[in-house]
Amino acid sequence: MPNHKQPILVFGATGQQGGSVASALLKEGWPVRAFVRSVHALKSTALREVGAELMQGNLADVCSIRSAMRGVHGVFSVQPSSGQGALYGVSDEDEVRFGTTIADIAVESGVRHLVYSSSNAVGDEPTGMGHFDSKACIEAHVRTLPIATSIIRPAAFMEMLMMPGFGLDKGCFNFFMRPDQPMQLVAVEDIGRIVAALFADPLRFEGSIIEIASDVVTVQDLEELLTQAAGKPISYSRFSSEVLAANPFLAKLTDLVDEGRLTGYANFEELRRMNPRLMSFRCWLSGCGREAFEVALGAAGAWRYGPT
Ligand SMILES: NC(=O)c1ccc[n+]([C@@H]2O[C@H](COP(=O)([O-])OP(=O)(O)OC[C@H]3O[C@@H](n4cnc5c(N)ncnc54)[C@H](OP(=O)(O)O)[C@@H]3O)[C@@H](O)[C@H]2O)c1
Repeated sequence: MPNHKQPILVFGATGQQGGSVASALLKEGWPVRAFVRSVHALKSTALREVGAELMQGNLADVCSIRSAMRGVHGVFSVQPSSGQGALYGVSDEDEVRFGTTIADIAVESGVRHLVYSSSNAVGDEPTGMGHFDSKACIEAHVRTLPIATSIIRPAAFMEMLMMPGFGLDKGCFNFFMRPDQPMQLVAVEDIGRIVAALFADPLRFEGSIIEIASDVVTVQDLEELLTQAAGKPISYSRFSSEVLAANPFLAKLTDLVDEGRLTGYANFEELRRMNPRLMSFRCWLSGCGREAFEVALGAAGAWRYGPT
């Protein structure tokens, strides 16, 4: 249990990563302050019910970030991105501005430890995709801060595999990997547990950049696991050349997978020391991912992500 009373401010607390982080921190006994756009939204009231303090604000409103940051020990920083399509209407420039503003205000406010969530696509070279290169800019800024900072680079979320357009409703699964290419995935729930481990030991993790994944799967694993979970055959194929020709965003992601920029290099041994309960895709499908999987089996829909 942490022995101080200052809270950790969690951005995106009504979303996947922030929600997972808020929940894991509360379980570890941290006071959690959740930055939310509406205190009346269902996900916000659910956070309050489990013990989080709500702070209403907007990433575009610097004053609201400043007031939320007053008196906090730590900050979990995550931003929406253009990769999420029209969902939040965020440009790559917005994402960079949000991420660097949070970082600067954290320093101004005397925050002790900032954890920034990036992506495993980020590396030494640009990717050529706006919503990854935006994260490289934020990372570069975070690394210059005069406070303890840690950066996580999550792999593709298991939850992401359930989005419409991958074909599960048609008894198939179309994805990025070649048959010879294993790919790392992360269960969103594990992100929270890893972030809680970072906040628990700032001295050890100060300045660290940690790729996060909870399992690695091959094409064969995907076919077997999805077939078993669905109780009917699910066959794998890579996106067809027609699909890729019609969708430059998907084509570029596929190129990055080809180049090994999105397949992941997480160190499972190290991650298990931080979170001994890393979730396999098999467990995810039969546990916390079951509902999303069942919805995906019945949900027709086209791929609709990427900048609009
Ligand atoms: N999907 C993947 O496989 C993957 C892998 C690695 C990294 N990522 C990155 O993860 C990030 C998204 O994280 P996520 O999946 O946790 O997001 P998410 O579930 O879509 O949640 C987004 C959160 O941001 C909040 N938000 C949106 N606009 C806001 C604003 N203007 N002011 C304040 N809060 C705002 C939302 O609040 P409301 O509830 O009010 O809408 C929500 O809490 C993106 O940068 C993406 O590129 C994704």
